[in-house]
Amino acid sequence: MQKEENNTSQQANAIRAKFEERYHQEPLMVRSPGRINLIGEHTDYNEGYVMPAAIDRDLIFALGFSKEPHGTLYALKQDESVTFDVTNPAKLSSPQWPNYLLGVIRQFIDKGYSVKPLHCIIGGDVPTGAGLSSSAALECGFAFAVNHLHGFHIPKLELIHMAQWAEHNYVGVKCGIMDQFASMMGVEGNAFVLDCRDLSYHYFPLNLTDFSIVLCDTMVKHSLADSAYNTRRAECESGVILLKQYYPKIRSLRDVTSGMIDAHRDQFVGKVYNRCTYVVQENQRVLDAANDLKNGDLKAFGKKMYASHDGLSRLYEVSCDELDFLVAESKKIDGVIGSRMMGGGFGGCTINLVSKSGVEFFLSAMEENFRARFGHEMNSYVMQLKGGTSILEPDRMG
Ligand code: GLA
Repeated sequence: MQKEENNTSQQANAIRAKFEERYHQEPLMVRSPGRINLIGEHTDYNEGYVMPAAIDRDLIFALGFSKEPHGTLYALKQDESVTFDVTNPAKLSSPQWPNYLLGVIRQFIDKGYSVKPLHCIIGGDVPTGAGLSSSAALECGFAFAVNHLHGFHIPKLELIHMAQWAEHNYVGVKCGIMDQFASMMGVEGNAFVLDCRDLSYHYFPLNLTDFSIVLCDTMVKHSLADSAYNTRRAECESGVILLKQYYPKIRSLRDVTSGMIDAHRDQFVGKVYNRCTYVVQENQRVLDAANDLKNGDLKAFGKKMYASHDGLSRLYEVSCDELDFLVAESKKIDGVIGSRMMGGGFGGCTINLVSKSGVEFFLSAMEENFRARFGHEMNSYVMQLKGGTSILEPDRMG
């Protein structure tokens, strides 16, 4: 069983020491977590519902002002640093990782804030490409840290939008709002239902009794992930344009019913009928699943996870062999009550509800079968829910 170390304060100390060694000053320290999503996939950009939570995996930022005219960004994992012009943070063609941060700086500038040259070191343990939103953690943590360092007092909700803007415009993924919202706004021990139309949300303590949230990471990210994501979004929008001719009041798939889609089935081009059907069903599933949790009916909740995966795989077509295999295998193991792919798809993780006493057996069986089928290892994480983006240590920058 592969397990990664999870120790935020140890990592933070190492990053802080690195900062002090490189820049001879005490940094502002910020953490920003990855996220899971219990149910409600590809619904956020359709103004629908999602059920995410922030997790006990963080990206960690050490920040301080620079005496030089330019800024620097240093990623520990890549052991790579870039300099940038704080008055004109241009997008880079390579490496890619600074673009998440440069896009955030661009947003501050576009909103009229004067960003001073700064140094930033980034580390942490949110796995990349695993569907745990390391990119949202990167954008949100940096936006929060730059805001705090300068004393701009921009509210978290606005920072969330700035982070999403960076992803759209500097990275090129037309993501919804779920990941940035979850990374920024998570509450320890809680999940929440977010209405992606008006951004209203309610937290609830996630009481899984004797079940654990276990992620199985395929360790693959298929190359079409980002382009297919944008295509799915466009397909949904084209479905709305078609239906609008008949139901002028609808604004998004949020307003659409299965009846409306079926009444015009023959008019949808290509896979648009399937895409719209999935989204409408998934939205309803989130609301029903929230009721299951309220009623303490975890088995019913787990069934909806399987139904969600089925829709993502067959109708929305964002799964892949590795994810489908993991979900199918999970059904063969006692003590698993729900499993589905999580996040954008085409790789990354499945999220599983597994009885606590069965976790060890579950993981060893899954690992063995996955290795036998694909010839490489999977990874796994047992998740705890943590708070959203925050200062890690008292700000002693003055
Ligand atoms: C990615 C996006 C999110 C959301 C999920 C799918 O994580 O960043 O906005 O659309 O995919 O639910």
